[in-house]
Parts: sequence; C-alpha cells; structure tokens
Amino acid sequence: MSGPQIAAATSATLVGAIILLTVAFLITKFCRKKKLQKNDASILPVKTSSSDGTPPNFSSKSEGSATEAEPIERFLDEVLRDRPVRFTPQQLIAFTENYSVKLGSGGFGEVYKGQFPGGMHIAVKVLKAGMDKRAEEQFVAEVGTIGRTCHINLVRLYGFCFDKALKALLYEFMENGSLDHYIFDEQNRLEWPKLHEIAIGTAKGIQYLHDDCHQKIVHYDIKPANVLLSRDLIPKVADFGLAKLCERDSDSYNNMTLNAARGTPGYAAPELWKPFPVTHKCDVYSFGMLLFEILGRRKNLDPKQSESKEWFPRWVWEKIEKGDMESILSLSGISEEDRERGERMCKVALWCVQYEAEARPSMSSVVRMLEGEVEIDPPLNPFLYLTQSEVLVNSDQWTGTATNDLTWTGTATNDLTSKGTSKDQR
Ligand SMILES: Nc1ncnc2c1ncn2[C@@H]1O[C@H](COP(=O)(O)OP(=O)(O)OP(=O)(O)O)[C@@H](O)[C@H]1O
Ligand SMILES: [Mg+2]
Repeated sequence: MSGPQIAAATSATLVGAIILLTVAFLITKFCRKKKLQKNDASILPVKTSSSDGTPPNFSSKSEGSATEAEPIERFLDEVLRDRPVRFTPQQLIAFTENYSVKLGSGGFGEVYKGQFPGGMHIAVKVLKAGMDKRAEEQFVAEVGTIGRTCHINLVRLYGFCFDKALKALLYEFMENGSLDHYIFDEQNRLEWPKLHEIAIGTAKGIQYLHDDCHQKIVHYDIKPANVLLSRDLIPKVADFGLAKLCERDSDSYNNMTLNAARGTPGYAAPELWKPFPVTHKCDVYSFGMLLFEILGRRKNLDPKQSESKEWFPRWVWEKIEKGDMESILSLSGISEEDRERGERMCKVALWCVQYEAEARPSMSSVVRMLEGEVEIDPPLNPFLYLTQSEVLVNSDQWTGTATNDLTWTGTATNDLTSKGTSKDQR
C-alpha cells in the first residue's frame, strides 16, 4: 500500500470510529431520557380519567405515546389496587366541593359524593370522631389490610384521610345506591331473577372476606343498606372492616354506636347479644335475614302486616313446614319458571338463620346452594327457641327479632348494652 493509500485508509477508519461513537452516545442519551421520564411518571399527582368504575390511573400519556405509557400505567394501577392512597383534608374538601352532596349517614359517619380531578366519582365516608392514639395507629394498619382486598363483589377502597381533625375513607362510587332502596320500595324496580343474581353476588363477596383474604374478615353488619349496586347492578358489599376498625380499641368502640359496631337489630346473630363465642358465622346469619328481605321485598319486621306476617322469616318457616311453597312464591312474585330457584332461596335463608352458629352453613356452601350445585337438606326449625310472647312489637321499639330472647327498649341506633336485658339475665 502506498503512503497516500495508507493515509486515506486511516482517515476512513477514524471517521467510522467517530460515527460509531456518536451513535453510541446518542443511544445512551436516549435511554437515559426514557429512564428519567419513567421516574417522573411515578411521582405524578393522581389523575383520573374515567367514571366507569375503573380505578383512577396515574397517566403519563402527555409525556409520550400511549404505547410507551402503558407499562407505567399498568404498574401504577397495580400499586393503587394494592394500597389505598392517602389524601389530605384539603383534597377532600376539593373532591367533595366542600361536602356539598350528602349521600346518607350511618353508624360510622356521614357519606358524601365526590369526584377525583379527572372526573371519576367517589363516595367519601367521614368517620365519627373519637379514636385515641392507639386506635389511630391501628386505623392505618387496618386500612392497609382492607385496601388490599379486591373482588368484584366488594366495594373498592381507593384511599383514606388520616388527619388529627379528620378521618375519612374514599370508596368507589356506586351509581345505584344501596339494595334496601330497591327491595323496600313499592315499585318493584328489580325483577326477581335479578334479585336472585344480586343475592349470589353478595354471598360471593362475603365468602371472599371469610375464605380468601390474607386475614379472615368478619363483616358484622351485613344488611341491604350495606350492599351497594353498581351502574350494571352488580352487588358490592360495603363497610367490611369498619366494624373491625371500631372494635380494636374499647374507647373507640364505645364512641361508635354499638349498633354499628356489632351489627344492626334484625340482622345481628344471637351470639352478638349473648355471651357466646362470635365467629364468622354471624355474617351467615345476617345474610340469611337479607335473603328473607329479598324474598319478601319487605322489611322482615313490619308491624303494618297482619299478625301472622308481622315477622316474615317465621311466616316463611310456617309455610315451608306445611309444604305450602305456593303462598311464598305468590307473595314474592316468583313465577313458575323461577320456582326452583325461589324454593332454594327459602331453604338457604332458613339454614343461615339457625340459632346455633355451628348449624349454619359456611358462605361457600351458601353460594353453591344458591347456584343449585348441591342438594339442600330440608331445613330445621330455626325459631324453636321463640315463644309467642317474645315476638316483636313495633319498628321503633325493638323487642328482639332474630334473637327474640332480648327485650330491648331503646331505639335502634342507640347504645344497646345500657338498655338491653337478655332472657338469660332475667
Ligand atoms: N360507595 C358508595 N357509593 C354510593 N353511595 C354510598 C356509598 N357508600 C354509602 N352510600 C350511601 O350512603 C348511605 C349511608 O351509608 P352508611 O354506610 O353510612 O350507612 P348504612 O349502610 O345505612 O349503615 P352502617 O353504618 O351500618 O353501614 C347508604 O345507604 C348509601 O345509600
Ligand atoms: Mg353502610
């Protein structure tokens, strides 16, 4: 090779090396930029994008293409599913427009409608004051547990506020409100097959709490007001964990109404009023009472009814005992086509409200029985322990329903312990 040829080859190699180095530099820079973008996305504020029941997403779409943002969104979505987000009182004021729309109130506090900045609707439950320091710490721990539950038939907890002056829980908003509004109104807006589906979905939600959570969760307050309906009428059990939160500490327990902390009269199992061990079977009992209310489309206790129908569960038992299914079906508006499912629901309800907790089925059996996967034995009389004189009175003054071995003369929302006397004590 001649001198000029060598010089030309050397400069060509040099140019090639420079080009290679430049390309390598550009690739490194590009990768670094991508990485930074990704980190930035993880500290973006909450940005909600839909009102269709999907969880709020932290979106990075404005930073890049939809394809680039998808893994980040998926990741953050999972984080959100796993752990509820903490909000400040100021954020809650903004979300609820200063608590302008009240959805209702219950034993734990008041519920307001709200909206995340992206437009997604939420329900904000402002808890009654009264927690002490230890209970406060447990509130956070407990929210962690409850927030990890994820099931189609449980209301999602998106976040919470934990401030000296304000404790609140932020839930997914349920467009169709609570089941009680549907079964207790005169218009029969839901057909019986839909109610049957709602009963099964509710049972599955409770089954999940009992069997499939990291930690078994006992609800203690199953009733139609705690079954919320989505836009598509999918039932979702609400307020699970709240009773548990209140119970952890005796002071906070006393500050909540006992009605809320240990069930609601008419749905609460006998063991909640008596010195018997309390297990998850108390939820089975309450679910049975809910089934009766679905069947009758009425409150179980209705003083306006004739004496024999005043307390619906016992009326159902009397009919079943006589083999008179027809009366139950016609009263419930169940067509011949749905007869089998109707009969099954009656039997399941009667099994669920057995006086002895051990005699009640598990929620997984309840689901199978309602779905017709297993034969149902003829139920035993759950009301053997009742005497006529112990049976109820009127809806304001409660002299026991389900248990009926209580004579309690307080109003349904007050502290029961101070006023109740059980038959055993008498
Ligand atoms: N996530 C929600 N979406 C829409 N409405 C809701 C939501 N949570 C509660 N509500 C409404 O607020 C009302 C009050 O609910 P709250 O849970 O405070 O009382 P409750 O269910 O009657 O009694 P309890 O205190 O025993 O649960 C409900 O009946 C329902 O109509
Ligand atoms: Mg509730």
